[in-house]
Amino acid sequence: MKIDILTLFPEMFDALNASLIGKAQDKGAVQINIVNIRDFSGNKHGKVDDYPFGGGDGMVMMPGPLYDAIESVKDDDAYVIYMSPKGTPLVQKKVENLAKNYTHLVLVCGHYEGIDERVIELCVDEQISIGDFVLTGGEIPAMALVDSVLRFLPNVLHNEHSTAEESFSDGYLEYPQYTRPREFKGLEVPEVLVNGNHKEIAKWREEQKIEQTKKYRPDLLDKK
Ligand SMILES: C[S@@+](CC[C@H](N)C(=O)[O-])C[C@H]1O[C@@H](n2cnc3c(N)ncnc32)[C@H](O)[C@@H]1O
Repeated sequence: MKIDILTLFPEMFDALNASLIGKAQDKGAVQINIVNIRDFSGNKHGKVDDYPFGGGDGMVMMPGPLYDAIESVKDDDAYVIYMSPKGTPLVQKKVENLAKNYTHLVLVCGHYEGIDERVIELCVDEQISIGDFVLTGGEIPAMALVDSVLRFLPNVLHNEHSTAEESFSDGYLEYPQYTRPREFKGLEVPEVLVNGNHKEIAKWREEQKIEQTKKYRPDLLDKK
């Protein structure tokens, strides 16, 4: 998969060189290209924002530089996503669809009061939100999208089945996980997990998925 990320703050994406995302790039599972929107400002001051028509607080990202930046990376396969609090929520099903149905994502990160609406009309295929709250910029949302999408690509996770067992994969949260030591500060690992009976372990995990969902996210059960 190829991912172009358009931003005014390229340095924020250094974080993508760490951990599994860094390794996914090393292995060639994904090619991430960071584009500085300011390079398309077309003026010597690198100006990319201006006052909103109609007045109001803050600045708006101008359409010209953003449009040119998008055009510079767009090809026939490109699916252009604007990270926006107005977008459709980023949930696991959406993540999986993005990973399976597209080979080239273009992620647009807004800043300030957002971007000129005409860029959305002209260039954006979908707006995606990471939750009902407002962040300073689209950089952290873009990183969340990249991280979650990459986990569905071949050769990224050590075990390809990991995503199938995880929270949200079948509408439930995951069962609780334990590792050594067997006893920690007086709390024991459930006996069933150490008795080696795989059938019983599978049954316990199925039951626990439902218990965890009831406890932490009962709203998910309403969608069943
Ligand atoms: C301060 S926000 C602009 C908010 C906009 N004025 C509004 O009220 O809808 C600046 C940028 O951060 C990004 N952003 C903020 N919250 C987001 C969220 N929940 N999901 C995705 N992107 C978000 C968007 O790219 C947005 O253009």
